[in-house]
Amino acid sequence: MADVDGVGGENDAAGFGIGIPVETKPYFLKGSNDLGWGMKDRMSRMFSPESGRTVMLAFDHGYFLGPTSKLERIDLAIRPLAPFADVLMCTRGALRTCIPPTYNKAVSLRCTGGISVLKELSDEVIAVNIQDAVRLNASAMAVQVHIGGVHERNTIDNLVKIVDSGMQYGVPTLAVTAVGRDMVRDARYLGLATRICAEMGAQFVKTYYCDEGFEKVTAGCPVPIVIAGGKKLPELDALKMCRRAIDEGALGVDMGRNIFQSDAPVAILKAVRAVVHGGETPEQAFEMYQTLKNE
Ligand code: R5P
Repeated sequence: MADVDGVGGENDAAGFGIGIPVETKPYFLKGSNDLGWGMKDRMSRMFSPESGRTVMLAFDHGYFLGPTSKLERIDLAIRPLAPFADVLMCTRGALRTCIPPTYNKAVSLRCTGGISVLKELSDEVIAVNIQDAVRLNASAMAVQVHIGGVHERNTIDNLVKIVDSGMQYGVPTLAVTAVGRDMVRDARYLGLATRICAEMGAQFVKTYYCDEGFEKVTAGCPVPIVIAGGKKLPELDALKMCRRAIDEGALGVDMGRNIFQSDAPVAILKAVRAVVHGGETPEQAFEMYQTLKNE
């Protein structure tokens, strides 16, 4: 017979913490309080519960660009950087072939594709199903959305389908707002695109920073926004953009070329972390970058 000593009502009252209320806190991320436990667990793997922010490393460019400059060998370019990123944003092909699972990093899995830079970029399809995203232990599924693009409706349909599958399995969706070559990256456009993505159910949204009115973009979007880096900038300028974006309401960055195309990728990634998580000024972080670069 099972040993029943010390079960239930025989225990000391102290063990039950009688009189001590269970601590209940609202979830720390904007717009995420009513998500399920699995979704919140995944969001907390990406966004630091301490700072409330994230530094994501994007190297999914090859899914439509092929071997981008300084990303010709994903293994050589990315493995040294991975320890300093909160999230790796990549395709399943890159993940399975180039990133050791022992790294145990949160992954934002690129889940749309089907086009190349030689064709119309908005003509994307869903390129990974939810079962494979779960098999890869993805913390998020990333979907490109082309508001105003030729295939706008189709890309919103991709987003909705991925959000629905993510809701079933507890995997958040990251909507990535693509800006066509003939469109202006201003607050009006970015506000429109990010708001549509959030209202369609994305748990967080990636967009570009704009110099005027970015705080309206973040305020008008009810879920966290992270910014893409865009084309390679001088390091100090990239750090200034990060600082302004965070100060104006972004909850993180998802940067690629400004990291892996830098002369000192580990140094700039650490400097970006100092701005995003540590609250450093761009100048302090740039000094850190230079010191690390010269070590
Ligand atoms: C582009 O479509 C990809 O989603 C990239 O991940 C994104 O543009 C971020 O990379 P970068 O900082 O180089 O712009």
